[in-house]
Amino acid sequence: MRDIRNIVILTGAGVSAESGVATFRGPDGLWEGHRVEDVATPEAFVRDPALVQSFYDARRAKLGTVGPNGAHRALARLDSEWPGELLIVTQNVDDLHERAGARRVLHMHGELKSAWCLACDGRIPWEQTLADGPTCSACGERGLLRPDIVWFGEIPYRMDEIDAALQRADLFVSIGTSGAVYPAAGFVQTARYLGARTLEMNLEPSQGSVFFDESRIGRAGELVPAWVDEMLGGTKVR
Ligand code: OAD
Repeated sequence: MRDIRNIVILTGAGVSAESGVATFRGPDGLWEGHRVEDVATPEAFVRDPALVQSFYDARRAKLGTVGPNGAHRALARLDSEWPGELLIVTQNVDDLHERAGARRVLHMHGELKSAWCLACDGRIPWEQTLADGPTCSACGERGLLRPDIVWFGEIPYRMDEIDAALQRADLFVSIGTSGAVYPAAGFVQTARYLGARTLEMNLEPSQGSVFFDESRIGRAGELVPAWVDEMLGGTKVR
């Protein structure tokens, strides 16, 4: 891989689908039986905090019943063996990249296993439920912890770091994302404009498919390990 040193990988719900984590845009347009605007907006949280907390409590509890799949493991292997810069920017709020062993992971939409205290503005690691209004371990306030998830209308995390990585990227790879939600959906155009090669791996062409130099259509659990073998074996990306 003489001409590729720095890689940015964007992952979405499709990378966790084979682990049994539901994607967002199912055929019925619902996310686990709910409209996105009923559970993933600040307005929904104001309107019905119990519903929103219970929804994310259930998602957090589900993490204990699922594990990383071949795509997560392959990306973790690439992370540990790739000699150049590498950043896995995930839109996913699960911890499956980390549980597979990946280290260079950035959660731009937050994490289920983190709680945000609206009293002290602290973020604390969180494994339990939030619907019962627990106490913040940082400031002692009760009932003001919310899921540390970036909802629609909120600004994704660490955009400066993502921008900097995109500036340096020789290769941008998008895996398992529909390309429906900005700013993540726009990363391919930024990377391409700045001169990176672009590759997507998804079950179907994403909404931004036209911006990729190459689209590989199929399951992440099969495509990603094969691609990582190519990268570590030195095969040139077409
Ligand atoms: P989506 O549910 O919109 O898209 C998932 C994509 O993965 C679809 O294009 C599927 O075809 C594809 N897919 C499904 N199974 C796959 C598999 N086994 N292998 C490969 N691809 C597969 O999820 P995201 O694009 O991640 O934001 O959604 C982006 C954001 O919208 C989420 O982070 C969330 C959501 O609302 C917030 O909550 C802020």
